[in-house]
Amino acid sequence: MKKNDSNIKKAVKYLNNDECIAIPTETVYGLAANAYSKKAVSRIYSLKKRPRNNPLIVHYYNLKDLKKDCEIDNTFSKLYKKFCPGPISFVLKLKKLSRISKIITNNSNSIAVRFPKHRLTRKLLKRINFPLAAPSANISNSISPVSKQDVLDEFGNKLKFILDGGPSRVGLESTIINLIGKPKILRLGGIESKTIYKIINSLKKRYKKKIKVKVPGTSKLHYSPGIPMRLNAKKNFHNEAFILIKKRKEISKNYFYLSNTNNLKEAAKNLYKTLRIIKKSGYKKIAIETIPNISIGEAINDRILRASKKWKI
Ligand code: TXA
Ligand code: MG
Repeated sequence: MKKNDSNIKKAVKYLNNDECIAIPTETVYGLAANAYSKKAVSRIYSLKKRPRNNPLIVHYYNLKDLKKDCEIDNTFSKLYKKFCPGPISFVLKLKKLSRISKIITNNSNSIAVRFPKHRLTRKLLKRINFPLAAPSANISNSISPVSKQDVLDEFGNKLKFILDGGPSRVGLESTIINLIGKPKILRLGGIESKTIYKIINSLKKRYKKKIKVKVPGTSKLHYSPGIPMRLNAKKNFHNEAFILIKKRKEISKNYFYLSNTNNLKEAAKNLYKTLRIIKKSGYKKIAIETIPNISIGEAINDRILRASKKWKI
Protein backbone atom coordinates (compact mmCIF):
# COMPACT_ATOMS: atom_id res chain seq x y z
CA MET A 1 0.00 0.00 0.00
CA LYS A 2 2.72 2.46 1.08
CA LYS A 3 4.74 1.49 -1.98
CA ASN A 4 1.80 2.31 -4.25
CA ASP A 5 1.45 5.72 -2.63
CA SER A 6 5.07 6.61 -3.13
CA ASN A 7 4.91 5.35 -6.71
CA ILE A 8 1.89 7.53 -7.39
CA LYS A 9 3.78 10.49 -5.97
CA LYS A 10 6.64 9.77 -8.35
CA ALA A 11 4.24 9.46 -11.26
CA VAL A 12 2.64 12.81 -10.41
CA LYS A 13 6.04 14.45 -10.32
CA TYR A 14 7.02 13.16 -13.74
CA LEU A 15 3.70 14.13 -15.27
CA ASN A 16 3.84 17.63 -13.78
CA ASN A 17 7.24 17.99 -15.44
CA ASP A 18 5.87 17.19 -18.92
CA GLU A 19 7.40 13.72 -18.90
CA CYS A 20 5.84 10.67 -20.43
CA ILE A 21 5.32 7.57 -18.23
CA ALA A 22 3.54 4.21 -18.49
CA ILE A 23 0.34 3.70 -16.51
CA PRO A 24 -1.75 0.59 -15.85
CA THR A 25 -5.35 0.43 -17.02
CA GLU A 26 -7.84 -2.42 -16.89
CA THR A 27 -7.58 -2.80 -20.70
CA VAL A 28 -3.87 -2.43 -21.50
CA TYR A 29 -0.98 -0.27 -20.25
CA GLY A 30 -0.92 3.30 -21.57
CA LEU A 31 1.88 5.71 -22.44
CA ALA A 32 0.65 8.78 -20.61
CA ALA A 33 1.38 12.51 -20.62
CA ASN A 34 -0.34 15.82 -19.82
CA ALA A 35 -3.01 16.27 -22.51
CA TYR A 36 -2.84 20.07 -22.11
CA SER A 37 0.88 20.25 -22.86
CA LYS A 38 2.21 20.24 -26.41
CA LYS A 39 5.67 19.33 -25.18
CA ALA A 40 4.45 16.36 -23.13
CA VAL A 41 2.20 15.02 -25.89
CA SER A 42 4.97 15.32 -28.50
CA ARG A 43 7.04 12.98 -26.34
CA ILE A 44 4.36 10.29 -26.67
CA TYR A 45 4.47 10.48 -30.47
CA SER A 46 8.22 10.26 -30.71
CA LEU A 47 8.65 7.50 -28.11
CA LYS A 48 5.94 5.39 -29.71
CA LYS A 49 7.04 6.23 -33.28
CA ARG A 50 3.39 7.05 -33.92
CA PRO A 51 2.36 8.86 -37.12
CA ARG A 52 1.37 12.42 -36.21
CA ASN A 53 -2.00 12.12 -37.92
CA ASN A 54 -3.16 9.32 -35.62
CA PRO A 55 -5.12 10.91 -32.73
CA LEU A 56 -4.85 9.86 -29.06
CA ILE A 57 -7.41 8.89 -26.42
CA VAL A 58 -7.60 11.26 -23.45
CA HIS A 59 -8.19 9.81 -19.97
CA TYR A 60 -10.29 11.65 -17.37
CA TYR A 61 -11.02 11.19 -13.68
CA ASN A 62 -14.68 12.26 -13.81
CA LEU A 63 -17.45 14.04 -15.69
CA LYS A 64 -16.72 17.41 -14.17
CA ASP A 65 -13.22 17.34 -15.66
CA LEU A 66 -14.47 16.07 -19.01
CA LYS A 67 -17.00 18.88 -19.33
CA LYS A 68 -14.20 21.44 -19.40
CA ASP A 69 -13.14 20.05 -22.76
CA CYS A 70 -16.06 18.23 -24.40
CA GLU A 71 -19.69 18.65 -25.40
CA ILE A 72 -21.90 15.85 -24.09
CA ASP A 73 -25.45 14.72 -24.85
CA ASN A 74 -28.09 12.32 -23.63
CA THR A 75 -26.69 9.25 -25.35
CA PHE A 76 -23.30 9.87 -23.82
CA SER A 77 -24.80 10.33 -20.35
CA LYS A 78 -26.67 7.03 -20.57
CA LEU A 79 -23.58 5.11 -21.67
CA TYR A 80 -21.43 6.88 -19.11
CA LYS A 81 -23.77 5.91 -16.29
CA LYS A 82 -23.82 2.31 -17.37
CA PHE A 83 -20.17 1.67 -18.23
CA CYS A 84 -17.88 4.25 -16.64
CA PRO A 85 -15.32 4.03 -15.30
CA GLY A 86 -14.62 1.08 -17.60
CA PRO A 87 -13.23 -0.22 -20.90
CA ILE A 88 -15.09 2.10 -23.29
CA SER A 89 -13.95 5.23 -25.18
CA PHE A 90 -16.22 7.88 -26.69
CA VAL A 91 -15.59 10.19 -29.62
CA LEU A 92 -17.13 13.54 -28.69
CA LYS A 93 -17.13 17.15 -29.90
CA LEU A 94 -14.35 19.26 -28.50
CA LYS A 95 -15.32 22.57 -26.87
CA LYS A 96 -13.90 25.68 -28.53
CA LEU A 97 -12.25 26.80 -25.31
CA SER A 98 -10.76 23.43 -24.51
CA ARG A 99 -7.08 23.38 -23.51
CA ILE A 100 -6.41 19.99 -25.13
CA SER A 101 -3.24 20.12 -27.19
CA LYS A 102 -4.09 20.26 -30.89
CA ILE A 103 -1.57 17.53 -31.62
CA ILE A 104 -3.78 15.00 -29.83
CA THR A 105 -6.74 15.49 -32.15
CA ASN A 106 -4.70 16.18 -35.27
CA ASN A 107 -6.36 19.61 -35.31
CA SER A 108 -9.84 18.16 -35.58
CA ASN A 109 -12.77 19.28 -33.43
CA SER A 110 -13.52 15.76 -32.21
CA ILE A 111 -11.72 13.84 -29.49
CA ALA A 112 -11.70 10.30 -28.08
CA VAL A 113 -12.02 10.15 -24.28
CA ARG A 114 -12.22 7.49 -21.62
CA PHE A 115 -12.50 6.92 -17.86
CA PRO A 116 -10.20 4.07 -16.90
CA LYS A 117 -11.22 1.89 -13.98
CA HIS A 118 -7.85 0.73 -12.68
CA ARG A 119 -7.55 1.74 -9.02
CA LEU A 120 -4.01 3.15 -9.20
CA THR A 121 -4.66 5.15 -12.33
CA ARG A 122 -7.81 6.61 -10.84
CA LYS A 123 -5.80 7.68 -7.81
CA LEU A 124 -3.24 9.22 -10.11
CA LEU A 125 -5.84 11.09 -12.19
CA LYS A 126 -7.35 12.46 -9.00
CA ARG A 127 -4.04 13.97 -7.94
CA ILE A 128 -3.19 15.86 -11.13
CA ASN A 129 -5.03 18.82 -12.59
CA PHE A 130 -4.99 17.84 -16.22
CA PRO A 131 -6.29 14.82 -18.17
CA LEU A 132 -3.88 12.23 -19.57
CA ALA A 133 -3.38 11.49 -23.24
CA ALA A 134 -2.50 7.80 -23.41
CA PRO A 135 -2.21 5.43 -26.36
CA SER A 136 -1.31 1.83 -25.67
CA ALA A 137 2.27 1.64 -24.36
CA ASN A 138 3.82 -0.18 -27.31
CA ILE A 139 5.86 0.87 -30.32
CA SER A 140 3.39 1.59 -33.15
CA ASN A 141 1.88 -1.53 -34.75
CA SER A 142 3.21 -3.93 -32.14
CA ILE A 143 1.12 -5.77 -29.52
CA SER A 144 -0.32 -3.75 -26.63
CA PRO A 145 1.33 -4.40 -23.25
CA VAL A 146 -0.64 -5.98 -20.43
CA SER A 147 2.04 -5.91 -17.70
CA LYS A 148 5.01 -3.86 -16.53
CA GLN A 149 7.37 -6.40 -18.11
CA ASP A 150 5.64 -6.02 -21.50
CA VAL A 151 6.18 -2.26 -21.34
CA LEU A 152 9.84 -2.84 -20.52
CA ASP A 153 10.10 -5.19 -23.50
CA GLU A 154 8.79 -2.40 -25.72
CA PHE A 155 10.76 0.59 -24.45
CA GLY A 156 13.61 -0.69 -22.26
CA ASN A 157 15.21 2.21 -20.42
CA LYS A 158 13.84 4.85 -22.81
CA LEU A 159 10.91 5.33 -20.42
CA LYS A 160 11.52 7.27 -17.22
CA PHE A 161 8.89 5.52 -15.14
CA ILE A 162 6.33 2.69 -15.21
CA LEU A 163 3.57 2.69 -12.63
CA ASP A 164 3.17 -1.02 -11.88
CA GLY A 165 -0.45 -1.99 -11.44
CA GLY A 166 -0.13 -5.74 -12.05
CA PRO A 167 -1.57 -7.54 -15.07
CA SER A 168 -4.40 -5.79 -16.97
CA ARG A 169 -7.72 -7.37 -16.08
CA VAL A 170 -9.41 -7.14 -19.51
CA GLY A 171 -6.33 -7.57 -21.68
CA LEU A 172 -7.78 -6.01 -24.86
CA GLU A 173 -8.19 -2.32 -25.67
CA SER A 174 -11.36 -0.36 -24.96
CA THR A 175 -14.39 -0.39 -27.25
CA ILE A 176 -14.49 2.93 -29.14
CA ILE A 177 -17.84 4.47 -30.01
CA ASN A 178 -18.28 7.59 -32.09
CA LEU A 179 -21.11 9.69 -30.64
CA ILE A 180 -20.94 12.50 -33.17
CA GLY A 181 -24.04 12.02 -35.30
CA LYS A 182 -25.44 8.52 -35.41
CA PRO A 183 -23.53 6.35 -32.93
CA LYS A 184 -21.02 4.02 -34.52
CA ILE A 185 -18.68 1.53 -32.91
CA LEU A 186 -15.26 2.21 -34.38
CA ARG A 187 -13.32 -0.47 -32.54
CA LEU A 188 -14.55 -3.61 -30.81
CA GLY A 189 -13.10 -4.05 -27.36
CA GLY A 190 -13.59 -4.48 -23.63
CA ILE A 191 -17.35 -3.88 -23.65
CA GLU A 192 -19.49 -6.12 -25.80
CA SER A 193 -21.15 -4.37 -28.75
CA LYS A 194 -24.46 -6.10 -28.02
CA THR A 195 -24.71 -4.52 -24.58
CA ILE A 196 -24.02 -1.11 -26.10
CA TYR A 197 -26.65 -1.61 -28.86
CA LYS A 198 -29.24 -2.41 -26.26
CA ILE A 199 -28.78 0.88 -24.47
CA ILE A 200 -28.59 3.03 -27.57
CA ASN A 201 -31.53 1.38 -29.26
CA SER A 202 -33.59 1.91 -26.12
CA LEU A 203 -33.17 5.67 -26.70
CA LYS A 204 -35.61 5.32 -29.58
CA LYS A 205 -36.15 8.98 -30.17
CA ARG A 206 -33.22 9.73 -32.40
CA TYR A 207 -31.86 6.46 -33.64
CA LYS A 208 -34.53 4.35 -35.25
CA LYS A 209 -32.25 1.93 -37.02
CA LYS A 210 -29.74 -0.24 -35.28
CA ILE A 211 -26.39 1.40 -34.80
CA LYS A 212 -23.62 0.24 -37.04
CA VAL A 213 -20.35 -1.41 -36.17
CA LYS A 214 -17.66 0.04 -38.32
CA VAL A 215 -14.40 -1.63 -37.50
CA PRO A 216 -11.75 0.52 -39.09
CA GLY A 217 -9.28 -1.29 -41.26
CA THR A 218 -6.88 1.48 -40.32
CA SER A 219 -3.67 -0.45 -40.34
CA LYS A 220 -3.32 -4.05 -41.30
CA LEU A 221 -0.14 -4.23 -39.29
CA HIS A 222 -2.02 -3.31 -36.16
CA TYR A 223 -1.65 -5.63 -33.16
CA SER A 224 0.84 -7.75 -35.05
CA PRO A 225 3.08 -10.20 -33.22
CA GLY A 226 5.45 -9.85 -36.19
CA ILE A 227 5.21 -13.49 -37.31
CA PRO A 228 2.68 -15.18 -39.63
CA MET A 229 -0.57 -16.22 -38.00
CA ARG A 230 -3.00 -18.79 -39.45
CA LEU A 231 -6.62 -18.55 -38.31
CA ASN A 232 -9.31 -21.25 -37.85
CA ALA A 233 -6.69 -23.98 -37.65
CA LYS A 234 -7.84 -27.50 -36.79
CA LYS A 235 -4.29 -28.67 -36.09
CA ASN A 236 -0.80 -27.26 -36.14
CA PHE A 237 2.07 -28.11 -38.45
CA HIS A 238 5.51 -29.05 -37.27
CA ASN A 239 7.15 -26.22 -35.30
CA GLU A 240 4.04 -24.04 -35.43
CA ALA A 241 2.84 -22.66 -32.09
CA PHE A 242 -0.82 -23.60 -31.65
CA ILE A 243 -3.13 -21.27 -29.73
CA LEU A 244 -6.13 -23.09 -28.30
CA ILE A 245 -9.22 -22.35 -26.33
CA LYS A 246 -10.71 -25.83 -26.00
CA LYS A 247 -8.84 -28.38 -23.90
CA ARG A 248 -7.38 -31.25 -26.01
CA LYS A 249 -6.58 -34.76 -24.89
CA GLU A 250 -3.11 -34.83 -26.40
CA ILE A 251 -0.28 -32.88 -24.82
CA SER A 252 2.27 -30.89 -26.81
CA LYS A 253 4.90 -28.31 -25.94
CA ASN A 254 3.62 -26.32 -28.92
CA TYR A 255 0.14 -25.89 -27.44
CA PHE A 256 -0.71 -22.56 -25.80
CA TYR A 257 -4.07 -22.34 -24.07
CA LEU A 258 -5.84 -18.97 -23.84
CA SER A 259 -8.19 -20.56 -21.34
CA ASN A 260 -8.41 -23.99 -19.80
CA THR A 261 -12.16 -23.80 -19.49
CA ASN A 262 -13.17 -22.32 -22.85
CA ASN A 263 -13.84 -19.01 -21.11
CA LEU A 264 -13.74 -16.04 -23.52
CA LYS A 265 -13.03 -13.38 -20.91
CA GLU A 266 -10.04 -15.34 -19.72
CA ALA A 267 -8.99 -15.87 -23.36
CA ALA A 268 -9.10 -12.12 -24.01
CA LYS A 269 -7.01 -11.46 -20.93
CA ASN A 270 -4.39 -13.98 -22.07
CA LEU A 271 -4.24 -13.22 -25.81
CA TYR A 272 -1.51 -10.55 -25.95
CA LYS A 273 0.48 -12.21 -23.17
CA THR A 274 0.42 -15.51 -25.07
CA LEU A 275 1.48 -13.87 -28.35
CA ARG A 276 4.46 -12.33 -26.58
CA ILE A 277 5.45 -15.64 -24.97
CA ILE A 278 5.26 -17.41 -28.35
CA LYS A 279 7.38 -14.76 -30.01
CA LYS A 280 9.97 -14.81 -27.22
CA SER A 281 10.18 -18.60 -27.46
CA GLY A 282 11.42 -18.24 -31.02
CA TYR A 283 8.51 -19.70 -33.00
CA LYS A 284 8.35 -18.51 -36.61
CA LYS A 285 4.66 -19.32 -37.19
CA ILE A 286 1.42 -19.37 -35.22
CA ALA A 287 -1.78 -21.33 -35.81
CA ILE A 288 -4.92 -20.43 -33.89
CA GLU A 289 -8.11 -22.38 -33.32
CA THR A 290 -11.51 -20.86 -34.21
CA ILE A 291 -12.63 -18.48 -31.48
CA PRO A 292 -16.43 -18.27 -30.99
CA ASN A 293 -17.60 -14.92 -32.36
CA ILE A 294 -19.75 -14.03 -29.37
CA SER A 295 -19.37 -11.55 -26.47
CA ILE A 296 -15.70 -10.52 -26.12
CA GLY A 297 -14.84 -13.23 -28.68
CA GLU A 298 -15.78 -10.59 -31.30
CA ALA A 299 -12.97 -8.35 -30.13
CA ILE A 300 -10.51 -11.26 -29.98
CA ASN A 301 -11.40 -12.17 -33.57
CA ASP A 302 -10.99 -8.57 -34.68
CA ARG A 303 -7.46 -8.46 -33.26
CA ILE A 304 -6.30 -11.83 -34.58
CA LEU A 305 -7.76 -11.12 -38.01
CA ARG A 306 -5.75 -7.93 -38.25
CA ALA A 307 -2.66 -9.64 -36.89
CA SER A 308 -2.97 -12.33 -39.57
CA LYS A 309 -3.73 -10.06 -42.53
CA LYS A 310 -0.31 -8.60 -43.05
CA TRP A 311 0.91 -11.96 -44.23
CA LYS A 312 -1.71 -12.42 -46.93
CA ILE A 313 -0.79 -9.29 -48.90
O1 TXA B 1 -7.95 0.66 -23.92
C1 TXA B 1 -7.51 1.61 -24.56
O2 TXA B 1 -8.25 2.31 -25.29
C2 TXA B 1 -6.03 1.93 -24.43
C3 TXA B 1 -5.75 2.36 -22.98
C4 TXA B 1 -4.33 2.76 -22.75
O3 TXA B 1 -6.62 3.39 -22.63
N1 TXA B 1 -5.65 2.94 -25.36
C5 TXA B 1 -5.53 2.70 -26.69
O4 TXA B 1 -5.06 3.78 -27.42
O5 TXA B 1 -5.79 1.62 -27.19
P1 TXA B 1 -4.45 3.64 -28.88
O6 TXA B 1 -3.97 4.99 -29.22
O7 TXA B 1 -3.48 2.55 -28.91
O8 TXA B 1 -5.70 3.32 -29.78
C6 TXA B 1 -6.67 4.32 -29.93
C7 TXA B 1 -7.36 4.24 -31.26
C8 TXA B 1 -6.44 4.54 -32.42
O9 TXA B 1 -6.70 3.59 -33.44
C9 TXA B 1 -6.87 5.94 -32.87
O10 TXA B 1 -6.75 6.09 -34.27
C10 TXA B 1 -8.32 5.99 -32.44
O11 TXA B 1 -8.36 5.27 -31.25
N2 TXA B 1 -8.74 7.36 -32.13
C11 TXA B 1 -8.19 8.23 -31.27
N3 TXA B 1 -8.82 9.43 -31.30
C12 TXA B 1 -9.81 9.29 -32.21
C13 TXA B 1 -10.81 10.17 -32.70
N4 TXA B 1 -10.91 11.44 -32.28
N5 TXA B 1 -11.66 9.70 -33.62
C14 TXA B 1 -11.58 8.43 -34.06
N6 TXA B 1 -10.64 7.53 -33.65
C15 TXA B 1 -9.78 7.97 -32.73
MG1 MG C 1 -2.61 0.92 -29.70
